[in-house]
Amino acid sequence: MGVYVVTGSASGMGAAVVEKLRSAGNTVIGVDLRSADVVADLSTATGRRAAIDGVLAASGGTLDGAVLAAGLGPAPGADRPALIVEVNYFGVVDLLEGWHDALASAERAKVVVFSSNSTTTMPAVPGRAIRAMLAGDSGKAVKATRLFGKNAPAMAYGASKIAVSRWVRRQAVTARWAGAGIRLNAIAPGAILTPLLERQLATPDEAKAIRSFPVPIGGFGVPSQLAEWVVFMLSDAADFLCGSVVFVDGGSDAWFRADDW
Ligand code: NAI
Repeated sequence: MGVYVVTGSASGMGAAVVEKLRSAGNTVIGVDLRSADVVADLSTATGRRAAIDGVLAASGGTLDGAVLAAGLGPAPGADRPALIVEVNYFGVVDLLEGWHDALASAERAKVVVFSSNSTTTMPAVPGRAIRAMLAGDSGKAVKATRLFGKNAPAMAYGASKIAVSRWVRRQAVTARWAGAGIRLNAIAPGAILTPLLERQLATPDEAKAIRSFPVPIGGFGVPSQLAEWVVFMLSDAADFLCGSVVFVDGGSDAWFRADDW
């Protein structure tokens, strides 16, 4: 049995992962804005520091795995692009950097980051925003999305998920991460019926876009099924999985780019 941290533990797929890990007898430290073992706001540097320190204290300095599920969807709002960049990108990367030594001390630690199939299916995501995030410049990243007007939150969302996936793939293969026995991988869900998606479906414009999006097998994904994939990616079976982005999306990624191999 291990000690795991799960961000976004209070809702949706994060909550489903916590339930499965705990029912298998593991110790889980949940991080969220509310109803969590460590309550912290990942949209600020201070909140991220509090999350890092709170988890290190609660874990005793060794983590067998981390699941980074906290995230915001592309809802409308002038401050939304900044929140998306801060939570979806820096709320992953800063935390993993802060927990690196605790993960290394477990020797075979596994990390699963929540990406999205928007990384390969959303057109015209600004490369400048992606590059700015990878360079650690949140202000520049947000500015690059503002040019898109009412589509800025969607662009910030797509850019944040591409940036975090590239970060996972770049770091996964380094001596610092692979060499320390830490397996960094990402899961890229399609539309999964969680409170995040329910909020989007409650907005007529967004609901129309979601329902017209091609999903070859139809319907929406189930949070507990996604949690099973995450638990598998945390298991010993994933020892040889390194820098992979696993799409679980009802076929949308394949529909858009079947021949991109
Ligand atoms: P959800 O909205 O049900 O849960 C997300 C959790 O993140 C919530 O508990 C929320 O409080 C927490 N969170 C948000 N902002 C935070 C902050 N500033 N500080 C701390 N915690 C914060 O969402 P869901 O659907 O379970 O999403 C999980 C992950 O999967 C997210 O990263 C999302 O972008 C990603 N994803 C979701 C898809 C979907 O269709 N539901 C599709 C593709 C990716």
